[in-house]
Amino acid sequence: MPDTATAPVTQLHLLPQTNRLRSLHTVIRDRDAARADFVQTSAQIFRLLLETALDLLPVEPREVRTPVGQTYRGLRPAAPTCGVSVARAGESIEAELRAMLPHSRIGKILLQRDKVTKLPRFYYAALPPDIATSHVLLLDPMLATGGTALAAITVLGEHGVADDDIVFVNLLSSPEGIAAVHAQHPRVRIVTSAVEERLNEDAYMIPGIGDFGDRYFGTD
Ligand code: URA
Repeated sequence: MPDTATAPVTQLHLLPQTNRLRSLHTVIRDRDAARADFVQTSAQIFRLLLETALDLLPVEPREVRTPVGQTYRGLRPAAPTCGVSVARAGESIEAELRAMLPHSRIGKILLQRDKVTKLPRFYYAALPPDIATSHVLLLDPMLATGGTALAAITVLGEHGVADDDIVFVNLLSSPEGIAAVHAQHPRVRIVTSAVEERLNEDAYMIPGIGDFGDRYFGTD
């Protein structure tokens, strides 16, 4: 029996690069995409990411009686699942999570990049009271340098969340960001729909999508 504290985990879960997914990416990566299409198409990818993320969480047996008097030996989540979005871009994933898990709680972490140090500074967190015993879907569509993700994981750790219980849900990731997260938190799982080539000198992903938050919220 492997020791669960040391057993290897598959840390990076890249969605299958199907024609359908690549077609969705083609819509949102197009610089001329209308905002409505950007928002609606992103939501479709979020749904795929969340389905994959939820499938990574532990389940336990649960039997139910069907309307024809039979027993169905099914499953249910082994612990509550909550979302934690990293404001502001992570808020874009909340609606899909709410649609899929209407009873789940959604916390929030606000970090902002310090103009001088370029490092994320913690401003505020509002987290569910039972977060330490929950499975946490950390929501942020962009994993670029990894600085924000690392700061958010630190906040979760300070609230008692183990790395094993965090699944980071993100739309685009850079090799640099994945390496940065896994160097410090090798047991945090990352679910992403694309691994980009690299970061440019302004820390944008290449080929990328531009500024996700601006495009999603219409502030560009
Ligand atoms: N944040 C974004 O919105 N886009 C990037 O490419 C990198 C960080």
